[in-house]
This record gives sequence, C-alpha cells and structure tokens, in this order.
Amino acid sequence: EKGTYAHFMLKEIDEQPIVMRKIIKEYQDEHGDLIINESIRAAMKSCDRIYIIAAGTSYHAGLVGKNLIEKLAHIPVEVHVSSEFSYNMPLLSENPLFIFISQSGETADSRTVLVKIKEMGYPALTITNVPGSTLSREADYTLHLHAGPEIAVASTKAYTAQIAVLAILAADSAQARGYDLEFDLFQELGIVANAMDVLTAQKEELEQLTRDYLETTRNAFFIGRSMDYYVSLEGALKLKEISYIQAEGFAGGELKHGTIALIEKGTPVIGLATQANVNYSIRGNIQEVVARGANALIISMKGLEQDDDAFVIPAVHELFTSLVAVIPLQIIAYYAALHRGADVDKPRNLAKSVTVE
Ligand code: M6R
Repeated sequence: EKGTYAHFMLKEIDEQPIVMRKIIKEYQDEHGDLIINESIRAAMKSCDRIYIIAAGTSYHAGLVGKNLIEKLAHIPVEVHVSSEFSYNMPLLSENPLFIFISQSGETADSRTVLVKIKEMGYPALTITNVPGSTLSREADYTLHLHAGPEIAVASTKAYTAQIAVLAILAADSAQARGYDLEFDLFQELGIVANAMDVLTAQKEELEQLTRDYLETTRNAFFIGRSMDYYVSLEGALKLKEISYIQAEGFAGGELKHGTIALIEKGTPVIGLATQANVNYSIRGNIQEVVARGANALIISMKGLEQDDDAFVIPAVHELFTSLVAVIPLQIIAYYAALHRGADVDKPRNLAKSVTVE
C-alpha cells in the first residue's frame, strides 16, 4: 500500500535506507561475519570467470557489480544485456559461473539465456527480489534482495539492493579466495544507509533543481567517469522512462567523440563527480559543455566539491558511491515526471516485468 505517498515510486525511493539496513542484518551473523550459502561460496571460488546477465536497471547494477567483484575478489567478470547474449554469445571460459540479476525474476530475455546455459551444463546464481520466481527456481542458487515488493515500473530500491547484495557477494568471495578486505563492509554499508537518510530528506532542494534545470527541456545528458558513468546510465534511464525527456548517459571522456555536437545553449547536462581519481577529468568535461552553452547541474561528493556544485552528497566509501549518487537522480526523475503530469508509477508503453522476448 502507498500509505500517505502520492506514488509508489516515491515510497520506494524512501525505503532505500531501510532496505540497506535489512540487507546488512540478513547477510550478517551474530559475530558480524558474512552469511553466504556454502555452495554459492564454492561456486564463486571455483569459477574462472563470471558472466552477469540482466536487462535495464538490473544491467546497470551488474556494471557496478562487475567492478566490485573484480576489485575485491579478483575474478574476471563480463556483463551482458540478456537479449543480446541469447543469440550472440561470447566465447566462454572453461569454468564460467552465470549470475542473473532480476528484480522480478521473470524477465523473458534473461530466462532464455538461463535455459540455454543450463542446457550447456553451466552453474547459475540468480539475484532477485522474488525468491519463488522463474529465474530463481530454474537457477542452481538464489540470493535474495530483501527489498520488499517493488510496485512502480521505475526500479529504485531494487537497484540499490542489487548493488549491496553484489558487494556482499564480492566481499565474501574475496575472503574465500584469500584476499583481505581493507574496510569493514557492513560498517561502510551502514554509512551508506545514513547517507541515504540524508538524501531522501532533501526532496525540496532536488525538486527545485528539477524546476531550474529540466522543467521545459526536450533532452538531457548525464555524464560521469568510472562508477559515475554507470550511475549516469541509470539516471538517464530513470528520467527517460517516466518523464519522456530524451535522456542519455555517457562516459565523460566519450563526449568529445560525438555527443558534444548535441550541446547547445541551455542543454541540461547532469555531471556526477563522486570519484576522487577522475575528479579532475570530469570537471574538465563539464567545463567543455559549459563553454558550449550547457546548463550544468553538478552533483558531487563531500570532500570533492567545488563552488559551483548544485548538490553535494555525504561522503561514502569510493566503491559504494553508486548506492548514494543514484538517489538524487531518482528523485529528480520523479519530480520531472510529476511536473509534466506523467503517470509516474505506470509510464506509457512499459510493464513492470517484461515477460515477452
Ligand atoms: O525484473 P528485472 O530486474 O529483470 O527487470 C529488468 C528491466 O525490465 C527493468 O529494470 C526496467 O529497465 C525498469 N523499468 C527500469 O526502471
């Protein structure tokens, strides 16, 4: 039920800190150690490469997950859009492990891949919000998102839950493979949950920024580098699917290879700056678009902020910035859709779970 909320989407955005704490609780034992099923741990330990298969927002979570698994557990990971993978399979490694990421567990494109790789005899793990779903039943293993029902077509709390569960899986596999974590995972995720509380309480500021930057525009660009690039893709998807503003996410460095031709006076560009190692270069990209007339809305992280930044996110561990950077983008997308009179929870032409190929 929506309770006092006008839309499920806003309710689900607000639930994200609660879901984060629920995940911390569910995946931790009384000694503060990770709880990951032994057979999943063994599968993560014995594989030589991971193939993440997903669609839409779940694919975007997979991109972040690849980084977490590679950086923490040192296992090579490929991320594939399920609809493409099903007819254009890459060369597979000798001992692959497939990870299906799906909020609903019912996405037909992903199921087609699951059926194929099971026929080929490969192991599969599904990360889903619906444990009894098709993708969960047909895979060998399941990890539960514990996000509670997600009703709005635009996925919000499932995205952050997917990244958190992938972080836990990555950290567990790191330990199983003998790599020491240089931080306390649950403590860092707790800091993320607190930052989410701060961000979900800043709706008025974000609604005003939406008015200032997106009210009448036909298009909008999102740019970021490294982890912020993946969040840019997700921010653009969120905005386009509910507000119908044509929105694209780009890697900051790719701008000059084509997209910058589209920048004209007043074009909104949402620039993300949460990554210390690329802060200098993304700032350069933002200057390039501003020089061509863009209206740049800069969202940065505490510690990296500069005078012109419109919005500053509380600092979190650099591996987990996507969990918090996405929240202002979700809220901005919500208000952009609301101000345009769009049906926020049920955007045109879309279904909550896409059960046809
Ligand atoms: O249920 P799934 O996670 O498999 O769904 C995948 C996509 O259909 C879904 O994420 C879609 O992109 C959302 N509408 C995005 O907000």
